[in-house]
Amino acid sequence: MTTLDPWGAVKIDNYSKLFDEFGISKFDELLSKIKNPHRYMRRHIIFGHRSYDSVLEAMLSGKPFAAMSGFMPSGRAHLGHKMVMEEIIWHQQQGGEAFLAIADMEAHAVRGKTWKECREYGINEYILSAIAFGLEPGAHIYFQSGLESVKSLAFELGIKANFSELSAIYGFNGETNIAHMVSALTQSADILNPQSKEFGGPKPVVIPVGADQDPHIRLTRGLAYKVNMFVVEERQDNGRSYISVRGKAAPKEALREIAKCTGGKLHEEHVDIFKYSLEEVGSTVCEVELKYGGYAFMPPASTYHKFMTGLQGGKMSSSVPESYIALTDRPEEGAKKVMRAKTGGRVTVEEQKKFGGEPDKCTVYELLLYHLVEDDSELLEVYKDCVGGTRTCGNCKKYTAELMSGFLKEHQEKREMAKGRLGEFGLPKL
Ligand code: TRP
Ligand code: SF4
Repeated sequence: MTTLDPWGAVKIDNYSKLFDEFGISKFDELLSKIKNPHRYMRRHIIFGHRSYDSVLEAMLSGKPFAAMSGFMPSGRAHLGHKMVMEEIIWHQQQGGEAFLAIADMEAHAVRGKTWKECREYGINEYILSAIAFGLEPGAHIYFQSGLESVKSLAFELGIKANFSELSAIYGFNGETNIAHMVSALTQSADILNPQSKEFGGPKPVVIPVGADQDPHIRLTRGLAYKVNMFVVEERQDNGRSYISVRGKAAPKEALREIAKCTGGKLHEEHVDIFKYSLEEVGSTVCEVELKYGGYAFMPPASTYHKFMTGLQGGKMSSSVPESYIALTDRPEEGAKKVMRAKTGGRVTVEEQKKFGGEPDKCTVYELLLYHLVEDDSELLEVYKDCVGGTRTCGNCKKYTAELMSGFLKEHQEKREMAKGRLGEFGLPKL
């Protein structure tokens, strides 16, 4: 939802605030444990996370985990969407299950798109590109309106979400249409759906998002907690630690069963357990909760990436085509946009030679960094040459424009091939 922007246009140097004020953890701390870190990880473009440890642990031990994201089929897919697609695909390549939602309910309710437009944009803009980037069969690609588990979950989550909480996040007021509110819940349902019983039950799920999307994640983590039957907590008593399981509106027999399985002491609304670890109790509670028809959701994990700057400086905006490169821009068009992009160059060539360029303020460099140069040492050369003043922006733009048109050409060829592969993903043929 683009109306949501609690941190405004977050500048690169401002990201550190998110750690202290919002409780997002540093991704760097996990980096060394990741086997084949993605370009965005290596280059610190992904800078933060919540609970990503749980995903990583599953990844390293071969347990089930998933990655999911959703796309609103109301505009053109661009390089920003590519980032999310690549992150989902990378997790699929590491053994995770991939989920890709087309948020047609949201586009219909919030943007006034017809169902037919949603279908077309969903397939042409997002699904074809995701397949072209390497999404493999086995991925769950779905339209929100077509997935029963998501819609019924959204309804259930609605019981635990109230108007004030949603308004604070999404800016709802008395004029907001009800379906808009439903679509906000549907997004939370998308995020928790990979853990529903139709999809194999509780598991770590990561949602890769841009830094401004954290409020959705926090909302959904809160809802997951609220719809669960039990809360498992570590407690201290006279220096002795134990595990306490609290039943929130849980059936009495379920609490009794937990006490029995763990040898714990049963109280009115909780069980205290002294013999088992948090993890052991957690898995018992999960089993019992599922048996009694509960969800036992794990809080969804997230990773946060930095935004790309708009090509003219400022923000990328879907209403300003010159500010972004769409995945279906003609290769020449993409190259032209690069040639017109804002650089970090100096006013004159003399100054450039003397002081060097400023790649950190250069949208052309950003294209290389985020998308066009995979090899780290090659990128480092560009950086050094730029800072050292031996690189001129004219040549650098030409080099980047060529890479860009090559990328678009190849991507569009792959999109053509993807058209014949929709059936492999359980989607109707074009
Ligand atoms: N609301 C998102 C957007 O505006 C789309 C979306 C729907 C989504 N469901 C999601 C994003 C689940 C992440 C996870 O683009
Ligand atoms: Fe940007 Fe390249 Fe110019 Fe450096 S030389 S400022 S990287 S366009």
